[in-house]
Amino acid sequence: MKILITGGAGFIGSHVADAYVNAGHQVVVFDDLSSGSRENLNPKAKFYQVDIRSDQIEGIFQREKFDVVNHHAAQMDVRRSVADPKYDASINVMGTLNLLESARKNGVKQIIFASSGGTVYGEQETFPATESHPLKPLSPYGITKVAVEKYLYYYREVYGIPYVILRYGNVYGPRQNPFGEAGVVAIFAHKLLKGEQAIINGDGKQTRDYVYVGDVVQANVLALQYDGSGIYNVGTGVENDVNTIFKKLRKHLNPESKEEHGPPKAGEQQRSVISFAKIKKELGWSPVTKFDEGLSLAAEYFKQKH
Ligand SMILES: NC(=O)c1ccc[n+]([C@@H]2O[C@H](COP(=O)([O-])OP(=O)(O)OC[C@H]3O[C@@H](n4cnc5c(N)ncnc54)[C@H](O)[C@@H]3O)[C@@H](O)[C@H]2O)c1
Repeated sequence: MKILITGGAGFIGSHVADAYVNAGHQVVVFDDLSSGSRENLNPKAKFYQVDIRSDQIEGIFQREKFDVVNHHAAQMDVRRSVADPKYDASINVMGTLNLLESARKNGVKQIIFASSGGTVYGEQETFPATESHPLKPLSPYGITKVAVEKYLYYYREVYGIPYVILRYGNVYGPRQNPFGEAGVVAIFAHKLLKGEQAIINGDGKQTRDYVYVGDVVQANVLALQYDGSGIYNVGTGVENDVNTIFKKLRKHLNPESKEEHGPPKAGEQQRSVISFAKIKKELGWSPVTKFDEGLSLAAEYFKQKH
């Protein structure tokens, strides 16, 4: 199959590209390299350095004739979305619509979308959240993910394009960018290796559902084989807090480092954990990487890179 991966020079998208290339698919990547890097690009993938908001997109769709669009490009910094919601929506909503319009006009047969189980539910009422938990996103970023989910439903109903929406937990692992606001594993690993003080926001008891990037890739592989439409959480059902992550990474990377806390971040969600029962039942996916194992793989990667 010929598959477009948007954001294929980024952390998750580049791993998905590797898996699709290895499975024998023809992979094309769109990325503007705003947070991704050429280093991550699979050498067998055809690369267009392009912004998903650009008018060039339509012509490329006409020429390339993609079977599938796997959409990972996004402005994915929650705090930036709070500071500048118009910019966030210009990429996450308008950029996505630019892709969807080209997709429907050019015979795309499936769309796979990277949504966010950590933000679409907002402050959770039940733990772990299933896909039917109310959608109450507390950030402009989370709102754009919900909006795109609704557009995908619309494009399926009106134009007949099936979709698989994958609501990821907090993804971590090799190639995660340590310079953004998001990705506490990458940020702490980088600081610990450089001997700089890592700062834990607030009491560090905020929890997230950390899912290893290799498992997320497997969900994208199964999504490609799925003959239908659906929304699926991709998480572990296990909560870990920031203090625990700091302590575990410190052991791997810099045992002398001190634990230091800063002021809490206003509006930060306290707990997030999602159920994977639905994707297990319908797509046969379960997380296989235990948290300790995933953290040591990530730590090893950052050590090598350092
Ligand atoms: N990392 C996580 O924990 C997580 C959790 C839930 C959902 N997601 C979603 O997964 C996707 C990938 O996230 P990631 O963690 O790999 O982040 P990332 O920043 O590494 O990847 C995003 C990629 O998109 C590219 N990009 C950004 N804006 C673009 C634009 N306007 N045009 C073209 N390319 C553009 C970036 O250069 C980057 O390569 C995003 O949609 C994100 O919202 C990530």
